[in-house]
Amino acid sequence: MRRPGLCAFGFRTQIIVCDLERKVGMAREQLRLVLLGVTSLSITIIFCPCGLLLADFGEPPRLLVEDKSGGELAPAREPAPREAKAGVIAAKVGISRADSGGKEAKQKMNIEVKPFGQTPLGEKLDLYSLANSHGLKAEIMTYGAIVVSLQVPDRQGRMDDIVLGYGNLTDYLTKNPYFGAIVGRYGNRIAKGKFTLDGVQYSLAANDGENHLHGGIKGFDKVVWKAEPIKHRDGVGVKLMYLAKDGEEGYPGNLSCTVTYTLTERNELKIEYLATTDKPTVVNLTHHGYFNLTGCQRDILGHEIMLNADRFTPVDAGLIPTGELRLVKGTPMDFTRPTPIGDRVGSNYEQLKFGGGYDHNWVLNGGGRVLVLAARVYEATTGRVMDVLTTEPGIQFYCGNFLDGTITGKKGIVYNHRYGFCLETQHYPDSPNKPNFPSTVLRPGETYETTTIYRFSTRKAVRKQM
Ligand code: GLA
Repeated sequence: MRRPGLCAFGFRTQIIVCDLERKVGMAREQLRLVLLGVTSLSITIIFCPCGLLLADFGEPPRLLVEDKSGGELAPAREPAPREAKAGVIAAKVGISRADSGGKEAKQKMNIEVKPFGQTPLGEKLDLYSLANSHGLKAEIMTYGAIVVSLQVPDRQGRMDDIVLGYGNLTDYLTKNPYFGAIVGRYGNRIAKGKFTLDGVQYSLAANDGENHLHGGIKGFDKVVWKAEPIKHRDGVGVKLMYLAKDGEEGYPGNLSCTVTYTLTERNELKIEYLATTDKPTVVNLTHHGYFNLTGCQRDILGHEIMLNADRFTPVDAGLIPTGELRLVKGTPMDFTRPTPIGDRVGSNYEQLKFGGGYDHNWVLNGGGRVLVLAARVYEATTGRVMDVLTTEPGIQFYCGNFLDGTITGKKGIVYNHRYGFCLETQHYPDSPNKPNFPSTVLRPGETYETTTIYRFSTRKAVRKQM
């Protein structure tokens, strides 16, 4: 298996993985350490069957760079067990850390699938429940490929659900502001719902004022995805598939999409996106989870956030980028150092007025080629940390400005203003109309392929000096 890749600023990384067999777990960890630890060097690493590791240190890139696979250097995944599709408890994967060589086995990785009602059109829905051996749990339904819940530990090891959502299907079907969903065919906005591709103008729904948002009236967040469970050495997941028809929501081309969620043994929710088309089209898929690392106990203004971005894309009053890539330095958009979300959200800065707070795309340093650290969020009372890594060039940081207390979510919790934040990894908004932005055009014969990882850990409390 050979995975060549380009580092930030064009320096070459190359990872050649031979038959590692049982050494894979250990080798993978070493690789991650090397890539994360040595940030000032470009590295070529070769693992040989004999266990020899050759490392070649090249020119310095600027960024934290990981292998695009997120360290996933294990042998190819085992095929999904087809028989697992039917039945209430579909697949007990039965791989524990002990099975894979670790000593701290607590519980087994596990996948279950159960029926989850149906749409008004009678389409049957399923809910996939994933668990890793550390006790993290994710529930994902086939309507909208929505992450319904995500349980992660705090610094005491207490689990809590850290994503916003509803306690019943009806609310998801009727009034979901994209909680936990996959959005597409084009996540974020397209100005006036129009774009021209190869000389043909396409018209899309204006469902956000005069602009087009998140794929239209019935975007990918409102369709039923086919699904099958997956398992491999390092995680359990669900592979979701959807074929968007030529002309659906006004977009050209039959677009075949696959989104795979994996709950890994490294406490990550990994999302891999693939798409192909039979006509030139535009694609921008993202995950629209709303996070609250307190477990939705209070608003998110106290969360500290770092965004690995020196620039952002300023917008007009309709939140359409002007085309400028503006330096964040000296503005309330500067999150290059961890800063509480609430510190400057009310600043007298025009961009914050337009967004009603943060609702902008940041230009990721070194983004768009390999997996880079895009964001890190820390919540001090629980110690929870969420890292976001992505191969995408941008990230929309939205801090729940439209939440206003009219939604009651899971466990009867009222989602007041700024009770959740989103970190939507993406190409920049309105790219189909902005020739200077990275292209979102997909042509027949090409494969759209991106990866985003939400990684969870905890940090100890810092004792205050008396
Ligand atoms: C995105 C947009 C926001 C808003 C939310 C959903 O993050 O950028 O303006 O539309 O989705 O409410």
